[in-house]
Amino acid sequence: MKVLVTGASGQLAHAIRQTWSGHDLVLPEEAVLDLSQQAAIQAVVSKTRPDVVVNCGAFTQVDRCESEADLAHLINATAVGWLAEACEAQQAMLIQISTDYVFDGTGTRPYREDDPTNPVSVYGRTKLEGERQAARCSRHLIARTSWLYDAWGKNFLNTMLAAAAQGRALRVVDDQRGAPTTCRALARQLKVATEQGWQGLVHTTCAGETTWHGFAKAIFEAKGIAADLHPCTTADYPTPAQRPAYSVLDGTRRRSLGSDLMSHWHEALLEVLKEGTTDEHR
Ligand SMILES: NC(=O)c1ccc[n+]([C@@H]2O[C@H](COP(=O)([O-])OP(=O)(O)OC[C@H]3O[C@@H](n4cnc5c(N)ncnc54)[C@H](OP(=O)(O)O)[C@@H]3O)[C@@H](O)[C@H]2O)c1
Repeated sequence: MKVLVTGASGQLAHAIRQTWSGHDLVLPEEAVLDLSQQAAIQAVVSKTRPDVVVNCGAFTQVDRCESEADLAHLINATAVGWLAEACEAQQAMLIQISTDYVFDGTGTRPYREDDPTNPVSVYGRTKLEGERQAARCSRHLIARTSWLYDAWGKNFLNTMLAAAAQGRALRVVDDQRGAPTTCRALARQLKVATEQGWQGLVHTTCAGETTWHGFAKAIFEAKGIAADLHPCTTADYPTPAQRPAYSVLDGTRRRSLGSDLMSHWHEALLEVLKEGTTDEHR
């Protein structure tokens, strides 16, 4: 299949480049495929004539979205509509990556696909509108994921390792629960989902759950690093954007579709650490 991937400089696109063997991948740089430009989207999609478009591009800086709401809406919502139109014209499938932040986090059991959404941040609201826009393409898959990271990229794992290497004391929130998910696990699952023709909305995170503090503790334990790590509350660490306190996603629908490749988050972490992180590759 010919697969066009947006957001080529991001961590999920990087993982797709590494894992989608056997397909003809096209990953234009942002200078060529700028999601803020409808003409660029139309031109690249019509020239590439892809079977599948994976939209990995997004305005992902959750706090910055609060002060740059117009840009967040343009990239996370309006551009997805333009992609949906361009895909429809080519009869291509659109895979849209969405987020656990479409929920408000007041739930007490893992969220199912049909649970009511109620985002509490600009990022979450724009990503939810992005889901609606993606659904305008007749052939679409909307994969909600959470707490993405991998060996490569700007993410929580590399931030924690860099901070510990500097000997900094770390206070990490222990009252937000979710599922850390590796980009490579998500990329492998998306590949199989595409090959098997999954459609609609599907929750696609690693299994299990933890807090950000629990995630940090697991990273340092696995690496044998005696970090100066302390739990704190969300109230101790105010941020411009509100985040859901509980955003674990239920994977029942995904498992019912067959070929579930999403391992437990701790097993996925060990897989990443075994291969080394960004800094160790330099
Ligand atoms: N990261 C998470 O924890 C997480 C959790 C749930 C869902 N998601 C979703 O998963 C998807 C992939 O996220 P990720 O973690 O791979 O994020 P990422 O590393 O930030 O990648 C997103 C990429 O999109 C690019 N981008 C921004 N504006 C663009 C534009 N106008 N045109 C083209 N590209 C543009 C960014 O470039 P710049 O860096 O140069 O701006 C960045 O390289 C996104 O849809 C995100 O919303 C992420």
